Amino acid sequence: MKFVRFLMKNAALANAPKHIDHFSKFSPSPLSMKQFLDFGSTNACEKTSYVFLRQELPVRLSNILKEINLLPDRLISTPSVQMLQSWYVQSLFDIMNFLDKSPDDHRILTAFTEALVKIRDRHNDVVPTMAQGVLEYKEAFGQDHITNQNVQYFLDRFYMSRISIRMLINQHTLIFDGTTNPAHPKTIGSIDPSCKVAEVVRDAYESAKFLCDQYYLGSPELEIEEINSKCQKEPISMVYVPSHLYHMLFELFKNAMRATVETHESSPSLPPIKVMVALGDEDLSLKMSDQGGGVPLRKIEKLFSYMYSTAPTPQVDHSERAPLAGFGYGLPISRLYAQYFQGDLQLYSMEGYGTDAVIYLKALSTDSIEKLPVYNKSAWRHYKVSQEADDWCVPSKEPLNLSVHRDSK
Ligand SMILES: Nc1ncnc2c1ncn2[C@@H]1O[C@H](COP(=O)(O)OP(=O)(O)OP(=O)(O)O)[C@@H](O)[C@H]1O
Ligand SMILES: [Mg+2]
Repeated sequence: MKFVRFLMKNAALANAPKHIDHFSKFSPSPLSMKQFLDFGSTNACEKTSYVFLRQELPVRLSNILKEINLLPDRLISTPSVQMLQSWYVQSLFDIMNFLDKSPDDHRILTAFTEALVKIRDRHNDVVPTMAQGVLEYKEAFGQDHITNQNVQYFLDRFYMSRISIRMLINQHTLIFDGTTNPAHPKTIGSIDPSCKVAEVVRDAYESAKFLCDQYYLGSPELEIEEINSKCQKEPISMVYVPSHLYHMLFELFKNAMRATVETHESSPSLPPIKVMVALGDEDLSLKMSDQGGGVPLRKIEKLFSYMYSTAPTPQVDHSERAPLAGFGYGLPISRLYAQYFQGDLQLYSMEGYGTDAVIYLKALSTDSIEKLPVYNKSAWRHYKVSQEADDWCVPSKEPLNLSVHRDSK
């Protein structure tokens, strides 16, 4: 019996490319914050969500699976990337099992929710595993400009796809598991329709402060200022996923604290970290300012690079959950969270003084629509461009020998 199951599983796996080709022909359907809320409001319909997800999740999984295949062969063949691919294919099959199952049977709906939880758990370690693959590749083959560019392009899309898939899974499982979240009874899945931004800032600060105090035996103070152009006296709130906002702020606080403490090692006191939250018609912006000595302009772009990460090689120990810290992924992943609902994250630094990190979010939930990668000809072309000559002059490192330019007498 075991052998028959083994054969059937292998036969199914052999068909994987066919299924991936099929589902990757569809474009993912980006949802707006409003659609997420409607899915989970009082007239939430589990059947509708089930029917949507059993098609949409395979589409999102297959779109990104197609792109994995465009990575350099030597990166695809690392054990880490092989393992990742097998997780994605397995999850695709897990959901495809439901394609012919009726939404009217509540046992099917329960089994579907359980399958989603299993998929979410299976994919818990995707980020450190992928990072490990990139490190292995870098150590074995070094890095070049084209590979860096392709890996950057791919990982931004791969991690964005992952954020979106987890968002869909979380919404479905949180809303339809029959319980309300006792800590946040008003949230709809993971979305808080009136997320108090300054509260999330304080939470993230406290967590980062805890780590900073432990490591450095001290930490900078926090000053928050809110500018609500809509209503001066009201604290600023928005429709958002508090855990996403928390993630970004926590990463920024850790960086700002480290820079502040290390720059002011010999001073008697530490300058505070200032956070300004401003609400306008279109944008809700958060600016975190530190006096941690700043970063030269030349390096700013590299801080968002997965390949250039200067962090020491962390050891991925699969026996326990590998901590993300130390991969140097704090900034690039936080920027993806901001961009996921059409926002952004930018750094403005003054070397010798400090850094401003700005998170831009959409003030209106109608503007907050998922930003999703799609596998198509344009994406394919990104991986296939050959190295082209720079269209700006490259200055010579050697002093110019002017004698060759002198008129011969
Ligand atoms: N506010 C800041 N001031 C000075 N340097 C900064 C600041 N923020 C980031 N950096 C620099 O950018 C680098 C990259 O930051 P990032 O958060 O992406 O990774 P990390 O902090 O090294 O590692 P991780 O966040 O994954 O633990 C940091 O190592 C640090 O050198
Ligand atoms: Mg960091």
